[in-house]
Amino acid sequence: MRKIISYAILGLFTLLLACERDEGDSRVVIPDFNYPQTVVFNPSLSSYRIFTGNPASLVPDSSFQLLELNASLYSDYSSKQRLVSIPEGTEISKQADGALSFPDGSILVKTFYYWNDARDTSLGKRIIESRLLIKERNTWNAASYLWDSTQTEAYLRLDGHDLPISWVNASGQNRSTMYHVPNENECIACHQSNDKMSPLGPKLRNLNRQVERNGSSLNQIQHLQNLGLLSNFDLSEVSEIIDYNDPSQSLSSRGRSYLEMNCAHCHNPSGWDPAARQDLDFRYSTPFAQSGIGAEKDRISDLLRSGEMPFIGTTLRHEEGLSLMINYLNSL
Ligand code: HEC
Ligand code: HEC
Repeated sequence: MRKIISYAILGLFTLLLACERDEGDSRVVIPDFNYPQTVVFNPSLSSYRIFTGNPASLVPDSSFQLLELNASLYSDYSSKQRLVSIPEGTEISKQADGALSFPDGSILVKTFYYWNDARDTSLGKRIIESRLLIKERNTWNAASYLWDSTQTEAYLRLDGHDLPISWVNASGQNRSTMYHVPNENECIACHQSNDKMSPLGPKLRNLNRQVERNGSSLNQIQHLQNLGLLSNFDLSEVSEIIDYNDPSQSLSSRGRSYLEMNCAHCHNPSGWDPAARQDLDFRYSTPFAQSGIGAEKDRISDLLRSGEMPFIGTTLRHEEGLSLMINYLNSL
């Protein structure tokens, strides 16, 4: 009898869990991370002297360097510019695992914009926000600055914001969305690792690419070393992540690159704890057998199709990414 009751309770419990799962899947609540800030962000972006001349041209000041990534995060089809600045006399150093260690006083900037008509960039762009990561006292701090309608200044916005935007894409389609500027807590959800904030793009394998600088083509890591920004080491020690948009690469590398850049910041063993399924390890370097991709492939494709994953960071489904991932998952 006792056994029957406990089975009944167990059954009820499972049923409750199952119901909760359905709702819980659609929107998980992000915990209040409440991380201590070690800088006070200035009210306006211009005070950081990131751009020179007309700010809307996004020409970096000589104290900022462009960073270009092999593979990047999809964010509602926006274009992005990434910049780095470190204090004079300091350098960025290479860690054993290929991550980079930045000195105090480093500033990383990512500016999000849309070409009014991607077929003709002379028709101008609309700059939405500049996201900053500033390192002080060995701690990264995150904030977003929202550009105003004059496109000459941007203002600190820590509590997030939604704004309507529209543009014409490269195939001439009119697109629009309610763009979401993340709040500080959302920044932390993606940018934290082992309960500490960290940058996500500037890893050596992602910076290891040819770039055009001052009219010549050279390796980006070499260029940063030439400028004295990055410690000296042999380029042959550095691996490379491929661009998931590059159709000449293998389907399996493209699938893994997509998961690394769009999902692994939450799904890795040091990711946002405890809700974000850290048993799924989507990092590029994790062997397939330990990644959980094989076991969860149907769930991954369901969540991508329904737009439930990636959780935060997008409002429009990434159609090209979705079809790439469906092809990749079907090939497993
Ligand atoms: C959905 C996850 C997500 C959210 C939310 C998010 N970021 Fe990021 N961020 C990333 C990823 C992934 C990268 C690296 C890839 C890229 O830039 O395309 C990145 C890159 C950056 C960079 C360039 C340096 C770097 O780490 O690569 C800055 C600066 C930045 N984010 C700041 C912020 C700030 C400030 C917020 C909150 C207002 C924020 N991010 C919210 C995922 C996120
Ligand atoms: C900002 C953090 C974040 C990002 C980015 C993110 N996820 Fe998740 N993911 C979560 C959380 C939180 C859960 C747990 C949801 C739950 O238990 O209901 C989860 C759960 C999952 C699950 C398991 C669902 C289940 O049935 O248990 C899969 C599969 C998944 N995510 C795939 C992805 C894929 C694929 C991407 C990239 C396209 C991605 N996630 C990006 C936070 C994230």
